[in-house]
Amino acid sequence: MSKLFERLTIRGVTFRNRLWASPMCQYMCLDHDGMPNDWHLVNAGSMAAGGVGMFMAEATGVSPEARITSECTGIWNDAQRDEWKRIVDFVHSVGAAAGIQLAHSGRKGSDYRGFTLAAGVTKPVSEGGWIPVGPSPIACPGMDVPLELDQAGIDKVIDDFGTAAGRAVEAGFDVIEIHAAHGYLIHNFLSPLSNERTDEYGGTLENRARLLLQIVDRIREVVPESTALFIRFSGTDWTDDGWQPEDTAQVAHWAQERGADFFDISSGGLIRDIFISVSPGYQVPLTETVRKLGEVMAAAVGKITSAAQAEAILAEGRADAIFMGRELIRDPHFALRAAGELPGVAIDYYPLTYTAADWSAR
Ligand SMILES: Cc1cc2nc3c(=O)[nH]c(=O)nc-3n(C[C@H](O)[C@H](O)[C@H](O)COP(=O)(O)O)c2cc1C
Repeated sequence: MSKLFERLTIRGVTFRNRLWASPMCQYMCLDHDGMPNDWHLVNAGSMAAGGVGMFMAEATGVSPEARITSECTGIWNDAQRDEWKRIVDFVHSVGAAAGIQLAHSGRKGSDYRGFTLAAGVTKPVSEGGWIPVGPSPIACPGMDVPLELDQAGIDKVIDDFGTAAGRAVEAGFDVIEIHAAHGYLIHNFLSPLSNERTDEYGGTLENRARLLLQIVDRIREVVPESTALFIRFSGTDWTDDGWQPEDTAQVAHWAQERGADFFDISSGGLIRDIFISVSPGYQVPLTETVRKLGEVMAAAVGKITSAAQAEAILAEGRADAIFMGRELIRDPHFALRAAGELPGVAIDYYPLTYTAADWSAR
């Protein structure tokens, strides 16, 4: 029996398999209004029709200034919620679960559009950007020094995550993922490299994790019991004086005690110009550490590109699910292909017309 195609139930959500679409910014809100549009529908729809167990929507701003770029999606108003609902309804109609990654960009906010030459530099207010915020006035290399959040600013961030989670539930999302990775606001608080606060949000691990745990509490107050709550962490900053896998495991454990259900373990993004050896499955050991030490369920992500590789990671008990990114851009129907390639897999969610091109019959 394939582990990749085994169902998984978390709270009220049953995933038809364990191959999930990793959140990927599209930078396609070209009117700069945070409104998901036909591009987002087709992107989500193709992966969902292509058999993934869950489509996880991209890092989505809980407020305008929480976006990474002006072209990123948002969920800070009802009009955005209603457009997300159209996408969620389609994803559900083809049998996949729908997740949304709620995000605050922190000190990496107000970037230029991803994948352009300008990306990686703070866009000034005069060009439609905004002033990025962080726990401390320490810049991400190459970007502007962020404004240090005061208590009122922190309270607003927590409120914004709660309100966004409420709208996400109204849009029909089954899973809410808190983006605590990749050098954005929550990671800025977690890592000692970007957090030099001396109040209750800085110093000890418990203090640096406080913002995340308060966001977990707030979201759990707002969303129904049936909604699954995920957290994406960077499992390491890849430097000895930074955030570590053991820290991730401890904070994941605390978050689980407060009502988070599942952890999605990526890495890096806080600092630049460090060497990361990016080989197939290179982040899987981080997932293993977090699962084992944190006593939590966790997914692996990163350079997982074949059905056999994904299956082996699960069969060897190294992760509970797989998030896949770029391979799903290359082939949004990868999950259907994987079902055909792995021995003994029979799925009942082949879109009817697509059975004409059943991979196992090729
Ligand atoms: C175009 C693109 C956009 C991405 N946007 C996000 C994002 O919004 N949130 C996030 O947590 N990771 C984001 N990532 C990282 C992916 O989710 C994934 O973790 C990474 O690409 C490694 O997995 P892969 O090797 O399967 O692509 C993005 C990656 C790509 C290629």
